[in-house]
Amino acid sequence: MSTTICCLGAGYVGGPTMAMIAAKCPDIRVTVCDPNEKRIAAWNSDTLPVYEPGLQEVVESARGRNLFFSTDVRKAIRESDIIFVSVGTPTKTYGIGAGRAADLKYIESAARMIAEEAQGPKIIVEKSTIPVKTAEAMMTILRSNSKNGTFQVLSNPEFLAEGTAVEDLNNPDRVLIGGEQTPEGLAAIEKVVSIYARWIPREKILTTNLWSSELSKLVANAFLAQRISSINSISALCEATGADVDEVARAIGKDSRIGPKFLKASVGYGGSCFQKDILNLTYLCQHFGLPEVAAYWESVVKINDWQKSRFSTRIVKDLFNTVNGKHIGILGFAFKKDTNDTRETAAISVCRDLLAEGAKVYVYDPQVDEEQIRADVLGTGSNPNLIVVKNVGEACHGAHAVAVLTEWDEFKELDFQKIYEGMLKPAFLFDGRNILPHAKLREIGFRLFAIGKPY
Ligand SMILES: NC(=O)c1ccc[n+]([C@@H]2O[C@H](COP(=O)([O-])OP(=O)(O)OC[C@H]3O[C@@H](n4cnc5c(N)ncnc54)[C@H](O)[C@@H]3O)[C@@H](O)[C@H]2O)c1
Repeated sequence: MSTTICCLGAGYVGGPTMAMIAAKCPDIRVTVCDPNEKRIAAWNSDTLPVYEPGLQEVVESARGRNLFFSTDVRKAIRESDIIFVSVGTPTKTYGIGAGRAADLKYIESAARMIAEEAQGPKIIVEKSTIPVKTAEAMMTILRSNSKNGTFQVLSNPEFLAEGTAVEDLNNPDRVLIGGEQTPEGLAAIEKVVSIYARWIPREKILTTNLWSSELSKLVANAFLAQRISSINSISALCEATGADVDEVARAIGKDSRIGPKFLKASVGYGGSCFQKDILNLTYLCQHFGLPEVAAYWESVVKINDWQKSRFSTRIVKDLFNTVNGKHIGILGFAFKKDTNDTRETAAISVCRDLLAEGAKVYVYDPQVDEEQIRADVLGTGSNPNLIVVKNVGEACHGAHAVAVLTEWDEFKELDFQKIYEGMLKPAFLFDGRNILPHAKLREIGFRLFAIGKPY
């Protein structure tokens, strides 16, 4: 009998990962389920809820054949041998550990639902990023609540990066699968390994014990974020000394021990994962009596917050210490290019800072819709000074200053001469991603600020 898989959670991870498995394994039936009706309807439509280059094609190659999207979570659980859990694990906003610990309410309710519905042997795969030892809690919930199910819990954290999810899933650096080191646990690991091995070389599929796998995901994100905060901290020193952060990054990146990737200074990292996973790591360190380790990792988040506010402060200072009533164009709102995800994007902080100073903020992003931008910046409130526009021209025409906050390719090749002519003078440009042609812009007449660059 061929394998049947389901995934609880049709988000940025569940949707693309399952679509890739279905596309690569036509004989495996894959159902992605989520109680969110709007999301499931979008997965079943031509406008997917997640924007990722190449994703539409992957979904269309398998949808209706062996890939299904459904709101009937319980049915999918009953019918599946392998159940991936890819629900959200946001930072807790209440009670013990608020602001740091991961909120595991969705994980727990998924485990309880699986326990209620499961009959016979099931392999449960944690895809969500969770604190170390969550598998133990899941196993306890499953084994003490199920009448007829038997369970193996595996950890298979997802390392895809938004914006390159399809490429990352098609050709990952590695796949990590952790499980109990018992004959049953090792057999479950092998079953999941054999799925990935359909298109990923075996030597790239690492197997470990449960706790190493769970912890590795948090540590990977902490190291990635640490590199960004490291280069961002140096960007401030470059601005103070006349060094150029891109030149410094190139020089140190040539050292094979350091390597060239992830050394791009910017207005600060965003995304749903880095901040939440580091905060979770620091919470775990505190919990296990390691306050020095917690403080070390916490500084990575502090530098990121500082970098974002340093950028807003710079705009205000350069505009003669007031932006009150001034038109500021914001180019880009997503936390990085090639995604419509705005969670924790630096643009939220920058827009809020400018609005707090009384600026009129005109925001344009090629993939993020108005409703999302308003909700992110204002919550349920309103502010007539936040204006979401449909193109670059509307954001920039009549502006005192323009700030680039997302590195969308289309911003690199704009008609800057025309933008300059439409702006008030002096025309200020703030490049929060260091993607613009700086020398040319200065020649045109812009007053340009770029992260970690000499003036
Ligand atoms: N976004 C990323 O780039 C990324 C990368 C690697 C790992 N992760 C991790 O993967 C997990 C999921 O992230 P995401 O970005 O896909 O989140 P998301 O918020 O986009 O999606 C989670 C979905 O789970 C659904 N859900 C909640 N409870 C459910 C239940 N009981 N049954 C079925 N569905 C349920 C929600 O309705 C939601 O649609 C998180 O732990 C995250 O840290 C995310």
